[in-house]
Amino acid sequence: MNPIPDAPAAAPDVSALREEILALKAARDAVILAHNYQPGPIQDLADYVGDSLAMARWAQRSPARVLVVAGVHFMAETAAILCPDKRVLIPDPEAGCSLAESITAEQVAAWKAEHPDAVVVSYVNTSAAVKALSDYCCTSSNAVAVVEAIDPEREILFLPDFYLGSHVARVTGRKNLHVWWGECHVHAAIDPETMAAKVAQHPGAELLVHPECGCTTRALALPPEGVPMQVLSTDGMIAESRRSPRTTFIVATEVGLLHRLRKENPDKTFVPAQDEAVCPFMNLITLEKIRDSLREDRYAVEVPAAIRERALIPLERMVAIGR
Ligand code: 13P
Ligand code: SF4
Repeated sequence: MNPIPDAPAAAPDVSALREEILALKAARDAVILAHNYQPGPIQDLADYVGDSLAMARWAQRSPARVLVVAGVHFMAETAAILCPDKRVLIPDPEAGCSLAESITAEQVAAWKAEHPDAVVVSYVNTSAAVKALSDYCCTSSNAVAVVEAIDPEREILFLPDFYLGSHVARVTGRKNLHVWWGECHVHAAIDPETMAAKVAQHPGAELLVHPECGCTTRALALPPEGVPMQVLSTDGMIAESRRSPRTTFIVATEVGLLHRLRKENPDKTFVPAQDEAVCPFMNLITLEKIRDSLREDRYAVEVPAAIRERALIPLERMVAIGR
């Protein structure tokens, strides 16, 4: 597993870097796709900011020759699988994901051997080799829709996120869904006691909870009478913040999302459920590394043809299903 990186160093002159990046982007026919957890200055510069599903769909639709993925490695790999004619760059190849590391292709093969008739549904937070052994991929945006699209009589192996899998089993009522025991160390560390304290401090607030949270299961029993709670992907939280008449929200996910929530809803208040919910991998991406990536044409993300062809099948199903 990749070691969890240290916090990044202090930010440099943002406006000079922005100009440099915009010029390089135009010269190289490149676009920048950023995940909702990216630091604010990167979100503000990106051509597109969204959740994992939206990033994958947008990569497919973009006419640009080069895609710079400001996110983590599996997001860049997903773009490389879906867009074989584009050059996909990640500004820091060490930007991994603790959840994606929680299952290997060998473990998937062994699990499949125990359940030979099962359908394998992999969260997009997995390696290309794991996707190549899967029937469907999903994200937190469409996991329920993907599972509902599968014959109810078929057994499902859902991997690797235990909390998302448990959430999907609960929502769909499906009893023949087996869940892998993997987790994201950032979301698993958001605990219900800290959330309960935030709820007490902000009466009338709505709770927005990402299904990767370790607290999801217990959090469902948490809200006192009248406190609305939604379990949503990061883009789902953005949509809910616009739609809801509430003015204060407690947000249980990586704190990078608060930049976009606050930017798009300047009159509303967003409070992190846990201030320390920071993804160290997401924060490896910096404006300087994006500049260097465009200038030096690095680090290219390429997937061997045999794995790519097989992984494309579940990924195409993923982008076709759900919102
Ligand atoms: P979303 O699909 O909701 O963007 O989540 C991706 C992720 O890595 C969550 O930690
Ligand atoms: Fe992976 Fe967790 Fe970071 Fe998301 S927040 S990229 S699941 S380590």
